[in-house]
Amino acid sequence: MSNSAESTSSRPLRVAIVGAGPAGVYAADILTKSNEVKDGDFQVSIDLFEAYPAPYGLIRYGVAPDHPRIKGIVNALHKVLDRGDIRFLGNVTYGRDLTLHDFRAFYDAVIFSTGAIKDADLDIPGIGLEGSFGGADFVSWYDGHPDVPRDWPLEAKEIAVIGNGNVALDVARMLVKHADELLVTEIPDNVYRALKDSPVTDVHVFGRRGPAQVKFTPLELRELSHAKDVDIVLYPEDFEFDEASDEAIRSNNQIRTMVNTLTNWLVEEHAEAEEPSSRRLHLHFLHSPVEIYGTTDDAANPGKVAGVKFERMQLDGTGNVKGTGEFLDYPVQAVYRAIGYHGSPLDELEYDARRGVVPNEGGRVLDAEGNAVPGIYATGWIKRGPVGLIGHTKGDALETIGFLLEDRLTLPPAQNPDPQAIIDLLHERGIEYTTWEGWIKLDAHELALGAEWSAAESANGIERERIKVVPREDMIEISRG
Ligand SMILES: Cc1cc2nc3c(=O)[nH]c(=O)nc-3n(C[C@H](O)[C@H](O)[C@H](O)COP(=O)(O)OP(=O)(O)OC[C@H]3O[C@@H](n4cnc5c(N)ncnc54)[C@H](O)[C@@H]3O)c2cc1C
Ligand SMILES: NC(=O)c1ccc[n+]([C@@H]2O[C@H](COP(=O)([O-])OP(=O)(O)OC[C@H]3O[C@@H](n4cnc5c(N)ncnc54)[C@H](OP(=O)(O)O)[C@@H]3O)[C@@H](O)[C@H]2O)c1
Repeated sequence: MSNSAESTSSRPLRVAIVGAGPAGVYAADILTKSNEVKDGDFQVSIDLFEAYPAPYGLIRYGVAPDHPRIKGIVNALHKVLDRGDIRFLGNVTYGRDLTLHDFRAFYDAVIFSTGAIKDADLDIPGIGLEGSFGGADFVSWYDGHPDVPRDWPLEAKEIAVIGNGNVALDVARMLVKHADELLVTEIPDNVYRALKDSPVTDVHVFGRRGPAQVKFTPLELRELSHAKDVDIVLYPEDFEFDEASDEAIRSNNQIRTMVNTLTNWLVEEHAEAEEPSSRRLHLHFLHSPVEIYGTTDDAANPGKVAGVKFERMQLDGTGNVKGTGEFLDYPVQAVYRAIGYHGSPLDELEYDARRGVVPNEGGRVLDAEGNAVPGIYATGWIKRGPVGLIGHTKGDALETIGFLLEDRLTLPPAQNPDPQAIIDLLHERGIEYTTWEGWIKLDAHELALGAEWSAAESANGIERERIKVVPREDMIEISRG
C-alpha cells in the first residue's frame, strides 16, 4: 500500500467515471472542486466514459420532451464539461468495449454511475402479449434513443397505463396529448409523425393505492390539465382515505396539494357541462393489475391485448392496500407498465438483483463477502436504486467522492496512468469513441436542424429549438466528422 501512496502522490490521481448522466457529471465536478484538489494536496485527472455518443443520460433519454425547463439542466452540466478539466469519452460501453481489468490498468479509481434504463418486471399473466409495453421502452422511443426501433405501434384507441409515479404521468401525457402540441419540443420527426397518426381517444392510468398514496408530484399532476382538447376523468368511488391518508394529508404539503387538486377536478368534472374533448385521461385509484388478456381464449395463441383485469383494493389503515375480491375488466388495446425502473448488472461486480443496484456502503462498492473493493465506487441510481430527481444525484456524488478522498492514499495504483494509454487502447480495439468536441458539433448540428425547420415553417409561427439526431451511426458520424 505504501507503494501506491508514493506513486499517486507524484502524479495526478487517475479516475474513470463510467456513465455521463447527472450522477457521473456531478461526481466529476465535485471531485475536481474538492478542497483536497483545490488546496494542492493532490491533483486529479478524470475520464468520463459513456455508452451513448452523447452525454447527459436520462436527461437526454428520459426526461419528457415537453419539460424544457428540466432539460435545461444540461446547460449547467455543459458548463462543467466545457471547462476542459474532465475528458469525455462517448460511445464506449463498460463490459463490452472495456473490462474492469482494463480500468484497473489505467486508473487508480473507478466510479460507476450507470443509472437504470430498463423497466421493472410486472409478473402477471399476459404481460408478454402483443400490445403490452414497458414504459421505459416507450420513453426511450419518444426521446429518440439511438438503440430502439424507430417505429412504435400506436394503433390503440384505448390504453391502460399501470403505475402512479411521475413516469406513468409522463407516459400517459405523451400518449394522450395532441402531437401538434409537442412539435415545439425536441422530439424527432418519426415520433411526431407517429403521435400525429395515433387514433387514441382514452388513456386510463391505474394506481394500486389511493389518491393520498400517489408517488407523482404536484407540478406533474397539475400539468395534465394543461393538455389541450383532453378531459380528465375521475371516479368518486376511488376517493378512499384511511387514517394513514389523513395523517399524510395533514403532515405532507405535497400530498395535501395533490389530494386537493384531484378532489377539485372530481367536483368540477361533475359540475361542468362543457363541450366534451376528443380525448380523455382517466385517473383510477385502488386498482391492482391481475391479468392482461388477449383477443382469443386460445392459451397457445392468445392474440393481441384486449383488456386488463384489476382487483379493486381497499386501504388497510396504514396506507397499504388489501384485495376486496372484486374484479374489474377494462377493454383496452394496449398496456404500458410504468411501475419503476430497474438497474442492470455490471460485469465483474456483485449485483443486488432485488434492488437493481451494485451493493455498496455509501458508494464504496462491496464484494460478495461485504468488503469494500479497493478503488471501486458507485453513485446515482446504480448506487441507490431508481428513485429520486436529478438534484438528488448531487448528494449521492458528494457522499461517494467523500469516501474516495478518504481512501485516496491507499488506492491500488494504475499500472499505466498515462492519459494517452487508454486512447491508444480504444484505437487498437477499433472503438469509434466520441469526444467533448464531438458533442459540441452534434449539439450545434441538432440546433441547426431546429433553426432550419423553424425558418422553413416561419409562416406558421412555430419554432423548434432542436431536432434530435437519432441513429447511433449518424450521431457518431456527425461527432467524429
Ligand atoms: C422517464 C424519466 C423521466 C424523468 N424525468 C425527470 C424530471 O423531469 N426531473 C427530474 O429531476 N428527474 C427526472 N427523472 C429522474 C432522473 O432522470 C434521475 O434522477 C437521474 O437521471 C439519475 O441519474 P444517473 O446519472 O444515476 O443515471 P442516468 O441518467 O441513467 O445516467 C446513467 C448513464 O450511464 C450510462 N451507462 C449505463 N451503462 C453503461 C455502461 N455499461 N458503460 C458506459 N456507460 C453506461 C448510460 O448510458 C447513462 O448515460 C426522470 C427519470 C425517468 C426514468
Ligand atoms: N417530472 C419529474 O420530476 C419526474 C418524471 C419522471 C420520473 N421522475 C422520478 O424518477 C423516479 C422514478 O419514477 P417512476 O415513476 O419510474 O417510479 P416510482 O416513483 O417509484 O413509481 C412507481 C409506481 O408504480 C407502482 N407500482 C410498483 N409496482 C407495482 C405493481 N406491481 N403493480 C401496480 N403498481 C405498481 C408504485 O405503486 P406503490 O406506491 O403502491 O408501490 C408507484 O405508483 C421517481 O423518483 C420520479 O419522481 C421524476
